[in-house]
Amino acid sequence: MHCKILGLPVQEGTGRPGCNMGPDSYRAAGIADAIRELGHTFVDLGNLSHGPERAIDHPNPVIKSLPVAVSWIEAISEAAYQASADGFPIFLGGDHLLAAGTVPGITRRSAENGRRQFVLWLDAHTDFHTLDTTTSGNLHGTPVAYYTGQKGFDGYFPKLAAVVDPKNVCMMGIRSVDPAERVAIRDSGITVYDMRQIDEHGVAALLRDFIARVRAENGVLHVSLDVDFLDPTIAPAVGTTVPGGATFREAHLIMEMLHDSGLVTSLDLVELNPFLDERGRTATVMVDLMASLLGRSVMDRPTISY
Ligand code: ARG
Ligand code: MN
Ligand code: MN
Ligand code: MN
Repeated sequence: MHCKILGLPVQEGTGRPGCNMGPDSYRAAGIADAIRELGHTFVDLGNLSHGPERAIDHPNPVIKSLPVAVSWIEAISEAAYQASADGFPIFLGGDHLLAAGTVPGITRRSAENGRRQFVLWLDAHTDFHTLDTTTSGNLHGTPVAYYTGQKGFDGYFPKLAAVVDPKNVCMMGIRSVDPAERVAIRDSGITVYDMRQIDEHGVAALLRDFIARVRAENGVLHVSLDVDFLDPTIAPAVGTTVPGGATFREAHLIMEMLHDSGLVTSLDLVELNPFLDERGRTATVMVDLMASLLGRSVMDRPTISY
């Protein structure tokens, strides 16, 4: 496989600085060697910048950094579209606002190729606010509502070339949902596996069902991995820690099953805030998870189709 990493140093979607250092932290953690050791070819496309900001105002007074957010989304969706022409793009965040660019960009590509786009959203949060419902004003809480075409973005965020069907989105690890998000997501058609369901059924059974659906529809799968999907004891370097997250073993099993499926075509690594890390251990955990997704395993295994 040909892997391309693209740094997206977005931090304006959160309430605090630091995520802009994420891409370089992954580089320091050895992401290039981890990819090459698995026999993949590799290119580092460097870090993207956003274009000029236009004055833009929204009636919701709590919204933070809307002009730069829009300018990031425009730049990222074009870059993601270009990067998905060939090879396997790995988008290094940067906060989760970047998925308002990566997902529309790759979905535009899939639509052109006549393939259905699926998204596996690994996160403590649903990130399903609109510009009207956000109460924190942090726009990293909005990308899923935007890329699935919910109302409330028209005239502010860029017009979408292609929308992801909410039925093709599966969330796992959810354990922090705001009241407005809970109401909106209930009727959206999105599959939400919260931590309760992971505890009851285990990640393998839940993921197997979703993978089977992607395969049945000849879909392509984008994985968006938020650091806070993981339990804060193994991944402290994130501004929005929530206790009770996925364990090291659950997270690796997900990545290994995804590798075996052969269906994943792109990846976001988001929300790493190196300013909050402890001797790089969160960056290292994230790089190791990526390596499992790209085929690292302890023993050789026959490829299993789930
Ligand atoms: N729902 C909360 C908010 O809107 C938290 C969002 C956290 N999102 C994230 N990508 N970490 O502020
Ligand atoms: Mn700037
Ligand atoms: Mn998130
Ligand atoms: Mn999150």
